[in-house]
Amino acid sequence: MLSIVILAAGKGTRMNSGLPKVLQPLSGKPLLEHVVRTARMLNPEEIIIVHGYAGDTVKANVTEEDIKWVHQKEQLGTGHAVMQATDIISNDNNVLVLYGDVPLVSANTLQLLISEHQKGEINLLTTTLPSAEGYGRILRCNENVQAIVEDAEANETEKQINEINTGIMYCKAEQLKSWLSRLENNNTKNEYYLTDVIDMATKEGITVKGLKAVKWEELMGINDKKELAQAERNLQQKLTDALMQNGVTLIDPARVDIRGSLKCGKDVVIDVNNIFEGDVILGDNVSIGPNNYINNSEINDGSIVHANSHIDGALIGKNSTVGPYARLRPGAKLQDNVKIGNFVEIKKSTISDNSKVNHLSYIGDTEIGSFVNVGAGTITCNYDGANKHKTEIKDGAFIGSGVELVAPVVIGENATVGAGSTISKSAPEKTLTVERAEQVTVDNWQRPKKKP
Ligand code: UD1
Ligand code: CA
Repeated sequence: MLSIVILAAGKGTRMNSGLPKVLQPLSGKPLLEHVVRTARMLNPEEIIIVHGYAGDTVKANVTEEDIKWVHQKEQLGTGHAVMQATDIISNDNNVLVLYGDVPLVSANTLQLLISEHQKGEINLLTTTLPSAEGYGRILRCNENVQAIVEDAEANETEKQINEINTGIMYCKAEQLKSWLSRLENNNTKNEYYLTDVIDMATKEGITVKGLKAVKWEELMGINDKKELAQAERNLQQKLTDALMQNGVTLIDPARVDIRGSLKCGKDVVIDVNNIFEGDVILGDNVSIGPNNYINNSEINDGSIVHANSHIDGALIGKNSTVGPYARLRPGAKLQDNVKIGNFVEIKKSTISDNSKVNHLSYIGDTEIGSFVNVGAGTITCNYDGANKHKTEIKDGAFIGSGVELVAPVVIGENATVGAGSTISKSAPEKTLTVERAEQVTVDNWQRPKKKP
């Protein structure tokens, strides 16, 4: 049986942040969540997270119920942290140790590490980094790993070694417990280093197999904001590579950010500077212009989002166009062949087939039928200061420019509303309704003059 221990008790001093390190966001999700998701793919018997610094906050951010939480009161080092967890692990289980700040490791790599295991030995995941500074260095002897020397303890020769400890190891619980109980903290940081276990094991004649992973990008530890940004880039590249493999055209893959899940149909084109958050679905032949923010939305076949639009919690039908400079808020539902133009805000409203709201409008809590034209500058006055009210605009209605629709109000089928009207009573179908003060002209009108 497999027990996975995830270390997440450290403060992350080098982040210089009020937020604990393992909650720093990577592609929109806390570092720790990435690790938990990957751990789950290995179908372990249990996942144990060691929490400590800001423990309640960390716990509150991982909502899955079957996680076992172990508290490390004082952060006395990675060895001490693992020890808190091994207390509740059965001796016969095998333990995989993961670090909450090594979030990009793939399930495949972990599977490979586990598959190499032979009874009685330790399997250690290592890699070669362009710069090994800060990491524990791997000392080898005849193929196998002999010890790990921490950066703080390494001498000049050891610092030249560029094979590093990723922190990830796998061995039998019973053995691990025995080594951990004998750890000492007589080192520069006065911490109980997990890495000292390796030296103890080799001295007992235990084989420590070091699996040197090729994809080092997966295995970088994230200790500060610079490394966080590098990891973000690495992950984004992986996500955009996968999109392009599926036929999505990305004008510049380095200028697209995916902070959730983005599903694309055939022949989708995405221009530069787009951010996708939450669950976003783009149908076939969807085109996303430059500089858009799209969150938890579905955009169906043939629709176009023009530049600088903000789309959140919206459903867009087929062959519709949105923007430039449009804002769709939660509950905006556009059916097919709808046009939403510049500086139009839509909230909790349905716009049915073939209708247009082309310029400078606010549409909230509204049902718009099909073949409706809403003129420039039309506003649904949905809020009376205390409650929200509904507006209904039936099929074929034409709303002139600059109209205020004071809800609750119904505009009948094929009704026309004259420009500049403030409509507070319903407008009957097939008629023209106008509400305007009579125009007056004042002769010899003198504009006020500035006092000297
Ligand atoms: C550690 C390893 C180093 C390795 C590197 C890989 C040790 C002693 N060093 O160094 O060999 O190359 O990771 O990224 O293991 N944590 C606790 N409790 C503690 C201390 C740490 O839970 O008392 C957690 C942290 O939250 C973090 C992880 O353990 O998720 C690693 O701790 P960190 O301080 O970042 O270790 P490194 O100095 O990076
Ligand atoms: Ca680290």
